[in-house]
Amino acid sequence: MPVMTLVADDIVARCRAALAEHTPALAVRDVLDELVNDPGALAGALGRVERGGITTLHNAADLTILHVAWTPGMALNPHEHRMWAVIGMYGGQEDNAFYRRVPGGLEPSGGRELPCGDVLVLGDDVVHAVANSRREFAVALHVYGGDFFSVERSEWEFDTYEERPRDFERTLRLFEEANARWSAQV
Ligand SMILES: [Fe+2]
Repeated sequence: MPVMTLVADDIVARCRAALAEHTPALAVRDVLDELVNDPGALAGALGRVERGGITTLHNAADLTILHVAWTPGMALNPHEHRMWAVIGMYGGQEDNAFYRRVPGGLEPSGGRELPCGDVLVLGDDVVHAVANSRREFAVALHVYGGDFFSVERSEWEFDTYEERPRDFERTLRLFEEANARWSAQV
């Protein structure tokens, strides 16, 4: 019997099927749990990572699936999603810092390191910042219960916790800067 090779379309189909379950975020978590158990198959389906960035695998009104590679040394400032999110790591490690909203800004509220093989479910009111403190790319599938690109939401400055509208172009510039720093080091 031929061995089935995982392709990106399978990932999308399995996450879309999970949306029909009673608790979609938890059903997506189960899908990602299985997928990150075989990092080699995911790497085969999604390609070798040579620079940090975000690749869209699927974008619909009810579901967005991103392939995210955090560049070594990169840190993304606090932000919210306003939809549930599930992160499945299959290489490197992503460090999450959590915050709660307080009048005039944010207050730190713990954190969680996500090593390869871990899956994290975030509720729709979560505010988090992410960092890759290791000297390898942190690669993951990020699945969101809505249209990640069109929902209005906030981000905050790292140092002042000043709130402003989410600026995706700024995020992309952070990737470019981090990629330039990293490629100068290796
Ligand atoms: Fe996020």
